[in-house]
Amino acid sequence: MTLAPGPLRSLLLAGAGYLPERASSVAEGVDHVFHFIFWVSAVSLVLIVAVTLLFVFRYRASASRQAPEASPDHSTRLELTWSGIPLLLVMVMFGISTKVYLDMTGAPPGPAPAQVKVMARKWSWWFDHPNGKGAKDLHLVVGQPVELVLASADVVHSLYVPQFRLKQDAVPGRYTRMNFTPIMAGTFPILCAEYCGTNHSQMMADVVIHPDQASYDAWAAEGRSPTLSLAEQGRKLFDEKGCSACHSDDGSAGVGPTVKGLWGKTEKLVGGGTATVDENYVRESIVTPARKIVAGYEDMMPPMPLEEQEMLAVIAYLQSLKEKP
Ligand code: CUA
Repeated sequence: MTLAPGPLRSLLLAGAGYLPERASSVAEGVDHVFHFIFWVSAVSLVLIVAVTLLFVFRYRASASRQAPEASPDHSTRLELTWSGIPLLLVMVMFGISTKVYLDMTGAPPGPAPAQVKVMARKWSWWFDHPNGKGAKDLHLVVGQPVELVLASADVVHSLYVPQFRLKQDAVPGRYTRMNFTPIMAGTFPILCAEYCGTNHSQMMADVVIHPDQASYDAWAAEGRSPTLSLAEQGRKLFDEKGCSACHSDDGSAGVGPTVKGLWGKTEKLVGGGTATVDENYVRESIVTPARKIVAGYEDMMPPMPLEEQEMLAVIAYLQSLKEKP
């Protein structure tokens, strides 16, 4: 039997494997807490509704029953029971969830884990890996503990991997951490779980869990010898640094101006004046985006620090998109 997605399906399948795969060391603990709370709630709901219905029918008004029946006004045993059982249940919830919380926030036992630095910005992720390689996707090795150190360039974002059962805010002006061990090779989606503006729902990346160190090393070595032309490197950066989240390269409308045919154009600016799109204008717009806003657009781009080589590559890419006369 297949059921349409929805609350009923979730209800019937609770505990029956409807949750995503468990790909991190903390996922199982989170699921246990979830299922404990779920079943306590479900059983309570059934009991409460059943007793309510029973009383509604049994004690309803009728011709033969006008005056209230005599009943005891106090029962210490009953009151202790209905206070004691819920107290016990919520203390168990507190205990098991605190244990899982400490597991996922504390440093794991053993040697210090590899550290990946995560930068969130509107609207992309950037991961600097231990070997120095930066990428728009997160790469890890199965079985190797890792610590993510998260920062944000603008507003609050939240890194969320459903298969990890983990979520951590990236907050401007401070660093937050997330500790876990991937336990399953594969590729899983990374989502942003904190509303952060227009393209919040598009702020996605992948986490790639390599089956072994050799596979990870092969990825890390990729692109080390630059075989791409400067413009091709720029195109890659444009995508990886998240520029393409707001600036299309095919002329379609976005949060920011398209870069198609942009090179050499004269742009009208907010507050009057114009600017010609050349190397200096592009550099200024990347380093201090608020200084010259193109008319019709909002001041919303965060400054994007690029290394000189990267800046050159992006400029070469924009030049390559110049409209052929
Ligand atoms: Cu970043 Cu929502």
